[in-house]
Amino acid sequence: MSLDTQLTRRLGLRVPILSAPMAGVAGGALAAAVSRAGGLGLIGGGYGDREWLVREIDIAADAGVGVGFITWALARDPDLLTIALERRPRAIFLSFGDFGPYASRAADAGVPLIAQVQTVAGAKAAVSGGAEIIVAQGTEAGGHGGERGTMALVPAVVDAVGDVPVVAAGGIADGRGLAAALMLGAAGVLCGTAFYATRESLAHDNAKGTALRASGDHTVRNRIFDLVRGYDWPEPWMIRTLENRFYRRWVCDPEGLRRDLRRQRQAYLDAQASGDVDTAPVIVGEAIDLVHQVQRAAAVVSRIAKSAEACFNSVRVNSVQAPG
Ligand SMILES: Cc1cc2nc3c(=O)[nH]c(=O)nc-3n(C[C@H](O)[C@H](O)[C@H](O)COP(=O)(O)O)c2cc1C
Repeated sequence: MSLDTQLTRRLGLRVPILSAPMAGVAGGALAAAVSRAGGLGLIGGGYGDREWLVREIDIAADAGVGVGFITWALARDPDLLTIALERRPRAIFLSFGDFGPYASRAADAGVPLIAQVQTVAGAKAAVSGGAEIIVAQGTEAGGHGGERGTMALVPAVVDAVGDVPVVAAGGIADGRGLAAALMLGAAGVLCGTAFYATRESLAHDNAKGTALRASGDHTVRNRIFDLVRGYDWPEPWMIRTLENRFYRRWVCDPEGLRRDLRRQRQAYLDAQASGDVDTAPVIVGEAIDLVHQVQRAAAVVSRIAKSAEACFNSVRVNSVQAPG
């Protein structure tokens, strides 16, 4: 059975799997590995470090990757979009904010615009604004997101946007998730958590090891880590991370954290650099239950695709055998 969908045809992929543009995690090596494996790898432009962006796009040159931006952060340095477009990405991916000012620039460059949304209203607005592909992101997702669950959000977005391909995101890390997403009407999936602990991911080795031992039971959506990092995230988005000692210390006392911000920020930055996961969080979503080993990104792509095909084959066999 082939996983040929509206998405694979639109983007020229062999499998309907996108890797998320994870800030600080999805550099050129990860994105290139996913694209070479037949999916679409997205570099995470994150909070807008120019030098980093140019270097990572160059690492992935010729692999056919896309570039993602946090839209409200892109507004602080819109030239980053020019830098990306000049390097002929396979797609531009925008999430979290009004992408109105950027849609026509992607269209003029002939680059498809993928918009990630968290609500049905957001999906409709994104299509009116010129997005060619919609990612419907459920709250199970690692990193920033909204409140709606993937299971109900995806079919509602599919119904709302007509012919526009919809990609499901949030809580999908194996073939069962991909098969389920296609059954909900999605044309593919976007995965972040599944790629967090890959060899090519830029996450610290301690963070990868902690992720492999973790359960989705221990992820939390919160504002504590953005407060200490000084990232001014607008409403309504909050980050999902694993809970840790720092989270437990401050979650009920954000005012105390504000009062001690300078000292705590330095401790946080030191922890991030040294891989101290008791302070700097592991940023993964509920699907971390499904990730058991550090693998190459290509192996993750092929595992998800092959096991989705097996799901469809087993449903076919069982439905033939079912009485009546
Ligand atoms: C470590 C990490 C960092 C992320 N950073 C970003 C980001 O910078 N921009 C963005 O649009 N989404 C980001 N996301 C969210 C992803 O785009 C995606 O919606 C999510 O990973 C999908 O859910 P999953 O983690 O269950 O696969 C991030 C996710 C993770 C796990």
